[in-house]
Amino acid sequence: MDLDDTAARLGVSVEDVDRVHRLAGDLPSAPLPAKADAPAMLDRLAVRPDDAAEIMEGWPDPGSPLWTPELRWLLDRSIALVRADLGGGGWLLPGPELPRDRGPAWRHLYVYAFLALADVAMAYHRDHGVDEAVSWLSLADLGRNLAVDRRMNREGWPVMQAWLTLHARGAVYEMGRLQFHRGGTTLDLHIPESGPMTPEAIDASLDQARVFFPRHFPDERYTAFGCGSWLLDPQLQEYLPEDSNIVRFQRRFELEPYEESEGPDADVEVLRFVFRTLTTPLDRLPRDNVLQRAIVDHLRAGRRWHWRRGSFPI
Ligand SMILES: CC(C)(COP(=O)(O)OP(=O)(O)OC[C@H]1O[C@@H](n2cnc3c(N)ncnc32)[C@H](O)[C@@H]1OP(=O)(O)O)[C@@H](O)C(=O)NCCC(=O)NCCS
Repeated sequence: MDLDDTAARLGVSVEDVDRVHRLAGDLPSAPLPAKADAPAMLDRLAVRPDDAAEIMEGWPDPGSPLWTPELRWLLDRSIALVRADLGGGGWLLPGPELPRDRGPAWRHLYVYAFLALADVAMAYHRDHGVDEAVSWLSLADLGRNLAVDRRMNREGWPVMQAWLTLHARGAVYEMGRLQFHRGGTTLDLHIPESGPMTPEAIDASLDQARVFFPRHFPDERYTAFGCGSWLLDPQLQEYLPEDSNIVRFQRRFELEPYEESEGPDADVEVLRFVFRTLTTPLDRLPRDNVLQRAIVDHLRAGRRWHWRRGSFPI
């Protein structure tokens, strides 16, 4: 295989192609679901009709002219690369960021990979006795992410394509208001966009996890819940009322000391999670509530937001 040629045809760097080639080698891939089963599966994965229509339009049928040999190679090897780390909980790039304006095959290549891997993840869940309802709810983050990406004019996908490999590897479980991320001795919390995070909903979700992980992953010993987020920046307390859900969530955690170099750039992440845009100028962002005004005023005053990590005992 000519790596330079493949990279040029995919519109990505040779290093990116070489990485997939090295990591996936000739490890086993996994088949996509039958096309006839795909609409029902997409529905269970909470994929909205507009996104589902695009995904069906670009389906990698054997003779499809949309699927060049390079795209087929990348799809197959990306599945193998993620599958090889089944059970792993680290962030993993499934492959290079593709030029997504070249049509549905390009735009959704990593969605097809996710659909193939969903079966692998379900089998892994079954091996651990995980209830099917939890499996589907966890994997249905696909639909939520696609919908958010559409709202973001497709700016969100580069992070999402890596994030969703965690679900595909059996590392992330959604129970109630929160998602729980296995790894080490800390269960990391993620907060999906699904309405307010009331303290009651958080408590109920934590209680579910306290039962779920010892039961289904008895070899793992979790001593703490952890979180890394823009939501844990104590500077938010300068702006938000004491009884806001975000401030009440913060009070659960003991924070690690702030290290500027650690974690993603919080100034970008607040734009992602509060405004769902990464490129709109500050003076054009909405100022509809106390949080939106706080985010913009803080940045316009020349201050920075901080990505903070914290934890509390299980
Ligand atoms: C985390 C989240 C659920 C908190 O929302 P919440 O429970 O409403 O939080 P609060 O009660 O503290 O909100 C205070 C105010 O900010 C507003 N607000 C909170 N999060 C907001 C968001 N992401 N976008 C816009 N406004 C938001 C609330 O509507 C509320 O305004 P109001 O007082 O005028 O009604 C919400 O921010 C969200 O869905 N975020 C997206 C996911 C995310 O950020 N995950 C963490 C990734 S690291």
